This record gives sequence, C-alpha cells and structure tokens, in this order.
Amino acid sequence: MTLILALESSCDDSAVALVGSDRQILAQAVVGQNDAHRPFGGVVPEIAARAHVEILPGLVRQVLHEADIAIGEVDAIAATAGPGLIGGVMVGLLVGKGLALSVDKPLIAVNHLEGHALSPRLVDRKLDFPYLLLLASGGHCQLLEVRGVGDYRRLATTIDDAAGEAFDKAAKLLGLAYPGGPAVEALAKDGDPAAVPLPRPLVGTKEPHFSFAGLKAAVQRAVASNQYRPEDIAASFQQAVVDCFVDRTRRALEKTDAPSLVVAGGVAANAAVRSALQQLAKENGRHFSVPPGWLCTDNAAMIGWAGAERFAAGMTDDLAVPARARWPLDPAGEKVRGAGVKA
Ligand code: KG4
Ligand code: ZN
Repeated sequence: MTLILALESSCDDSAVALVGSDRQILAQAVVGQNDAHRPFGGVVPEIAARAHVEILPGLVRQVLHEADIAIGEVDAIAATAGPGLIGGVMVGLLVGKGLALSVDKPLIAVNHLEGHALSPRLVDRKLDFPYLLLLASGGHCQLLEVRGVGDYRRLATTIDDAAGEAFDKAAKLLGLAYPGGPAVEALAKDGDPAAVPLPRPLVGTKEPHFSFAGLKAAVQRAVASNQYRPEDIAASFQQAVVDCFVDRTRRALEKTDAPSLVVAGGVAANAAVRSALQQLAKENGRHFSVPPGWLCTDNAAMIGWAGAERFAAGMTDDLAVPARARWPLDPAGEKVRGAGVKA
C-alpha cells in the first residue's frame, strides 16, 4: 500500500487528505471559504489565495495527527497544479513542493479535472477504463472518454458557461446566497419543473456540446416578469439543465463503446442530475457510477486518489513543475466555435 498526502486549493476550498492506494481515506479535511466570499456573490481570487495561505498548513498537521501518521511515512505528496484560480493553485502547489522537498519524497502535480475524473474509482472498484464521463463543475462542462490515467478524449464541451456557473448565476438572479447550486436545488424541491417555459440550448444538435448562457438570460426574464414563484423558476431551471445533460450525454453515448457512464464534479452532487443520468445509463445498458456528494464537490481525497493512480503508473513530477491557470485534460480537443475564455 502506498500512502499519498494530497492538497487541493484551486478555488475556494482548502483541503488536505491522506489516501491509500487500497482506496482507504485515512483522514481528510475540507475548509470552505463561503463566508469570506458571500458578500461579493462569488469567489474573489485574491481573498481565496490569502485564505489558503492561512488554512492549508494547519490542515496538513490536523490530517496527519488524525491518521496518526508522521509526514516521513507518506510515499508521495500530491498537489493540485491547475486548472483554477492561479493564486490559490500556487499556494497549494508550493506547500506540496515544500513538503516533498523536506521529506525527500516525490511530488505528483495533479490536474484538478483528473481529480474529478478519477474520483468515482476511489469508491467504485468495479469501474474500469474506459468510461464516458460527464464532468460538470463550476468552471467546466465536458463529456470525456476516460481511457486511462492521463488519457482523455474530449467529445464535447460548453460553448459558453459551465453548468455550475449557470446554477450560481440562476441563484443570484433568484436572490439566493452563494454557492448557488445547493441553494437552487433546495428551493426547487417545492417547485413545479414544468411551470416556467425555459429553453434547452443545443438540444437535438449533432455534436454533444453544451450551452447555458441563453438559459440564464431566460431565467433573468422569468424573474423580471414577476409572473412566477421563485420555487417554480428554480425547479424549471434545474429541469432544463437536467434535460440538456440527458440529451447531450445520450448523443455522446452514441460515440463511444465505453461500458460505463460516470458523472462527476460539483453539479453531480445534485440529486435530480444523478437520478436522470442513472436512468439514461440503464436505458443504454451501461454501468453507472457517481461519487457520493462530498466527493463530487471540491476535496483533497480525489486529488490523493488521482495521485495514487499516477504514482502506481510511475508518473511523478519535477519540483520545477508549473502552476497552470488553464490545463485541458485533452490538449488535442478541438476549439469549439463560440467557446469562450472558460478554463
Ligand atoms: O467541482 P466544484 O466543487 O468546483 C469546481 O471545480 O468548480 O463545483 C462547484 C460547482 C458550483 O458552481 C456549485 O454551485 C455547483 O458545483 N454545485 C451544485 C450542487 N452542489 C454544488 N450544482 C447543483 N446542485 C448541487 N447540489
Ligand atoms: Zn472542482
């Protein structure tokens, strides 16, 4: 068994975990910074980076203490090296480099997206490569064929907003607190998903890409019209996103023989999303896997697991490895017309 100490700091969660190659999580801790960012209605990069400086070292100590493991006993240090808010990524990566240097153990620079992509394998022993992955988070919305560690083929991406970003914007329009996803989901429970007519952008088109900007604009109009209950807008919005996910993922399933369908990333914590994709997998005779909610949103256990998978494959990194604001899983993925600046 190899033991990986992992750090995550790419957005507004400071997280540390100690993960074994036998899929054991010996200890982990996540400290969110919601209170610090809430007054601004979104994550302020500078505040996030400063908070990681204050929080991460204490979390390392706490996790090692809880697991009763000395830092010298770990086999490697894994740290998120991107993509994300560059200040925060630099903080976590540099803590990782310092630890690796001090105990003379290898460093593994983990792509945050690979953390999400491999996270279901931490809890699902039956999930083998290849699988089709719907990766839906605050910064990304992609369909990827996961062929192996470090081996991805992107089938589709969003041409404008990410899915989580759409949830966050809809929440803001509805006057809900940041972060928006869980707030919209909670409000939607008391709403009628058919009450508000909202568009399903790109549904029915040949390539399985996503678009959410028009949906956000439609939510804005629905709110401004004062015709609908907020509960109904939330439920109708969530249903529209689910319908887009199902249609686009169905299209992607036609492009791959991968025996499993997986959904991961923060938006995969949403119960309506989970059950709709489970149903789609069933209809298409594919094995379905989704991590538990705490493993969908940002955490360090997924970085530790990706680190363990990379370590097993002999993939360690030089201490000079850079922090990267942008870092696609499939660098060969074609630029999509209309795709904007999202990392
Ligand atoms: O993966 P993640 O924690 O961070 C990124 O890598 O971006 O994803 C965060 C995103 C946020 O946009 C958040 O609103 C969304 O995931 N999210 C949800 C839910 N929980 C988190 N969206 C819908 N329903 C949820 N329950
Ligand atoms: Zn994430």
